[in-house]
Amino acid sequence: MTSAVTMVGISPAIQGVEDEIEHAARCDAKVLITGESGVGKEIVARLIHGRSRRNRGPLVTINCAGIPDSLLESELFGHVKGSFTDAHRDKRGWLESAHAGTIFMDEVGEMSLRMQASLLRFLETGEIQRVGSDRKLPPVDVRVITATHRRLLENIADKTFREDLYYRLNVVHIEVPPLRDRRVDIPVLLNHFLCGFAEAYQIQVPEVVAEASECLTAYHWPGNVRELRNIAERLILRAPEGRITVEALPAEITRDRKPREAVTVAVKPTPNSQMLFDRMFTHGASFWSEVYEPFMARDLTRHDVRDVVRLGLEHTRGNYKMLVQTFNMPPEDYKKFLNFLRKYQCHVPFQRFRMMPASLARPSHIATA
Ligand SMILES: Nc1ncnc2c1ncn2[C@@H]1O[C@H](COP(=O)(O)OP(=O)(O)OP(=O)(O)O)[C@@H](O)[C@H]1O
Ligand SMILES: [Mg+2]
Repeated sequence: MTSAVTMVGISPAIQGVEDEIEHAARCDAKVLITGESGVGKEIVARLIHGRSRRNRGPLVTINCAGIPDSLLESELFGHVKGSFTDAHRDKRGWLESAHAGTIFMDEVGEMSLRMQASLLRFLETGEIQRVGSDRKLPPVDVRVITATHRRLLENIADKTFREDLYYRLNVVHIEVPPLRDRRVDIPVLLNHFLCGFAEAYQIQVPEVVAEASECLTAYHWPGNVRELRNIAERLILRAPEGRITVEALPAEITRDRKPREAVTVAVKPTPNSQMLFDRMFTHGASFWSEVYEPFMARDLTRHDVRDVVRLGLEHTRGNYKMLVQTFNMPPEDYKKFLNFLRKYQCHVPFQRFRMMPASLARPSHIATA
């Protein structure tokens, strides 16, 4: 992927965030960026720094989550030799390192009350006192940008975040909305990531078929843009013949898919066959172990097998080759699979599944054997 920072998106919400970035870049005020995990808060921070007059200075990024208090304090403010066991020499902290630039403090909502007090002191005076030193260093010139996925007003209410610190940090507030609230950005972001990964892996950009695109746009994206980026990478690595179809999408995305639900209800499968289909479709089980073996052991009827095949053909629109993939068999098992179906009279004609929009409920005449 290319490393240039860009805020991809066409929604009015993202345009609004862009405007706020521009405004923040023109001033030197502290910025608080809020939004769910993976929405792009770090991108916002990097763009503000990159477009500000400080862009020749450093951008120092720290993640306040998961760093023990003692370590965070010495990393932020530095320490002097001998101030604790491993302090073999004087070390300057991140705030000093960010002089003439910007410090981006991610997950600021995770800071302990003690660290919040230290940070507030620094914000009021600009002075730094290294851990173990009784001398104050001259004030540094640092712009502070913070981010959190938390609702800090709630933390203030339950007294885990200082109200005075909140108002100091929250001079310019930028809220990045979750992806599900700006769905028009989903295809645009998907295309952006697919192009980036295609370039990185030296392959052609795959085509996303309309139905797959609809599923991706309808999904609720709890992990926001980070999740979309990860899925784009997974998809590009297994897009057969340069196409991304519904079958290639992860189960969590297709699970809520409306057309499939409609189809499922319409063919009225037996509970047995629906469960078998789900085991293969959603959980990656193979046709040989889920259907073939129990059938040969007479635990499944011919009717069950036909029903499973029918569900599969609904899904692949009558394509038996694709069915082999959907039922998690290797492509070379295609012939063996068809031979088995024919031998035991479980073969289902595929023609009627062709040309059928998946969103249309099936009439009941194909529901029974
Ligand atoms: N609008 C966007 N355009 C392009 N890439 C984006 C966009 N938003 C997010 N990303 C990408 O998604 C990933 C997550 O973004 P980022 O790290 O900025 O999220 P975050 O809000 O800081 O998440 P967290 O709360 O988990 O730290 C990154 O790889 C980032 O490059
Ligand atoms: Mg982040």
